[in-house]
Amino acid sequence: MSGIFITIEGPDGAGKSTVIKKLAQKISENSSVQVLLTREPGGIDISEAIRDIILSPKNIAMDERTEALLYAAARRQHLVQKVEPALKEGKLVLCDRFVDSSLAYQGAGREIGMEAIWSINQFAIEETMPELTLYLDIDAKIGLERINQGRKFEELDRLDQEGLVFHERVRAAYLELLLKYPERIQKVDASKSIETVIDACYNLIKDKFPNLFN
Ligand SMILES: Nc1ncnc2c1ncn2[C@@H]1O[C@H](COP(=O)(O)OP(=O)(O)OP(=O)(O)O)[C@@H](O)[C@H]1O
Ligand SMILES: [Mg+2]
Repeated sequence: MSGIFITIEGPDGAGKSTVIKKLAQKISENSSVQVLLTREPGGIDISEAIRDIILSPKNIAMDERTEALLYAAARRQHLVQKVEPALKEGKLVLCDRFVDSSLAYQGAGREIGMEAIWSINQFAIEETMPELTLYLDIDAKIGLERINQGRKFEELDRLDQEGLVFHERVRAAYLELLLKYPERIQKVDASKSIETVIDACYNLIKDKFPNLFN
């Protein structure tokens, strides 16, 4: 495949969705490469339907491993139907979350174990891995405060506060992945201003793929 596959990862509220949009814009302004901005389930009908099952409040009986398998299934369909065709066309694919999210959230957050999650995801994605993963690192508490519209942690309800332990496991798992895949995953300090984070991401892409830019 001749395109370039880049993913953006990090805990809730790290700024992934905010940053990725501006990043796509900035790349397009400075390169002739065609950029595809996507996120799982990416508007793919089958993946959206799977996601509806995962998120439906009716499905409180869902087992954690069932959830992990469904995420992997939705991921595969988005990959084969949207990401891989774009890569074959030589596009730069920027994807908001990918396999590292499952490793961190289902593997560590839900405590299924990263190895078990890796094995089902390897089945789902086969050989297609991102060449570069931008990991937006943020303290779990600050991330949660951001997505709760700036309310201080002490002002969050009990359930949100309990969620902190889960999100701390997620962040710790990302940091473990960073050590494990130092070539692929690059850390960005997401506690800085949005502009600073965007610039850092842009420079990492430029350093890794200098030929893309004018
Ligand atoms: N560097 C930053 N400094 C301050 N606020 C930020 C920063 N980046 C993002 N935010 C704000 O934090 C909130 C969450 O941002 P965003 O939705 O981009 O995060 P996310 O990583 O995509 O979260 P999720 O995992 O929940 O999808 C938004 O209100 C956004 O404006
Ligand atoms: Mg987001």
